[in-house]
Amino acid sequence: MEYALRCIDCGKKFEKDELHTCPSCGGLLEVKIELESVRVDFKFDGINLRVWKYASLLPIKSKPVSLNEGGTPLFKTELVSSSRVYVKHEGMNPSGSFKDRGMTVGVTKAIELGKKAVACASTGNTSASMAMYAAKAGLKAYVLLPAGKVALGKVAQALMHGAKVIGIKSNFDVALELVRRISEEENFYLLNSVNPFRLEGQKTIAFEIVDELGYVPDKVILPVGNAGNISAIFKGFRELKELELIDTIPRMVGVQAEGASPVYRAFREGKTDITPEENPETVATAIRIGNPVNAKKALNAIYESDGLSVSVSDDEIIEAQKLLASKEGIGVEPASAASVAGLKKLEEMGEIQDNETIVCITTGHLLKDPETVVRVCGEPVEVEANLESIRKVL
Ligand code: F0G
Repeated sequence: MEYALRCIDCGKKFEKDELHTCPSCGGLLEVKIELESVRVDFKFDGINLRVWKYASLLPIKSKPVSLNEGGTPLFKTELVSSSRVYVKHEGMNPSGSFKDRGMTVGVTKAIELGKKAVACASTGNTSASMAMYAAKAGLKAYVLLPAGKVALGKVAQALMHGAKVIGIKSNFDVALELVRRISEEENFYLLNSVNPFRLEGQKTIAFEIVDELGYVPDKVILPVGNAGNISAIFKGFRELKELELIDTIPRMVGVQAEGASPVYRAFREGKTDITPEENPETVATAIRIGNPVNAKKALNAIYESDGLSVSVSDDEIIEAQKLLASKEGIGVEPASAASVAGLKKLEEMGEIQDNETIVCITTGHLLKDPETVVRVCGEPVEVEANLESIRKVL
């Protein structure tokens, strides 16, 4: 396969995989695959789903650092009675979030480039996933987190997989700025979603949806934080269309939390770039981001697919989390439930047509954030160890 890194602003192309931003204008880079050079060697037959099934569309030449990521379940639900709503549960990836799709590609690229260490800023899931893949690859891992604002399960993973975890007394946006500078100084390979190769892995969500459903859905709804995933999934669909493997692209719907909604606000005002928010706040700590680095790509994905962006309150997020868990048996963390809260919002807005097929992406597993669960559901009741006491509370 032939590819180059292409700047989404000035259009210049570079054949230098270690770049993260355009050396000429500072714009975001994307992997531009010369699709005529690709020999697609997979079939959309609904079997053997996983990230590396689609290797012929991934810009990697070496043996992948893999933990069998991808192949996540697509559940048919009863969330909206008039249409077919599926939930693609990315929380079923090895580290419990969609980030593993990006990390298998990103960490393999780090090895190809001869890097000895990887680094990221994170609201939690990126760090958990990076630490896991770095461990598998034998690389050092450095993580910057907003202190006190990351769900416990995620910190536990990063620590146990052997990353050096540093909490900074600020938010994610500042952590990202700092890790970009330190990575340059120390020659760490940066694995935030500003890294275009990470997004290549994440585009396989689009491939799997088509593979599993056997057709293209009308809408794909997902939470937006640093805005990488929506950009990646859109790119996946766009490549399939350019390859004439599909005829249409779903409308991409980006859901943000009310307290951290720069992409939503830009969309509402018809803008192609955001005004950053200084103090983002939401119960969905995974998407507590005020200055999403991939905002331009995400807005482009939304506009080009005739999509939408909506914002949802923390109460709506928790309500959706409880609904998914108690009615569908799908356990997700708050940020993931934003996709279903967004689905409900679209329903209220009259934006769902009868007989549509909609896929909501739930990005992370319930077990990631046990503290929020205890806050919203309460602690289990405790009683004396005899039947009488148990009967009383049944
Ligand atoms: N859902 C979950 C569970 C996440 O962890 C994230 C991002 C998102 C959604 C948003 O995805 O950033 O591609 O728009 N988490 C990052 C992290 C920021 O550090 O783990 P996005």
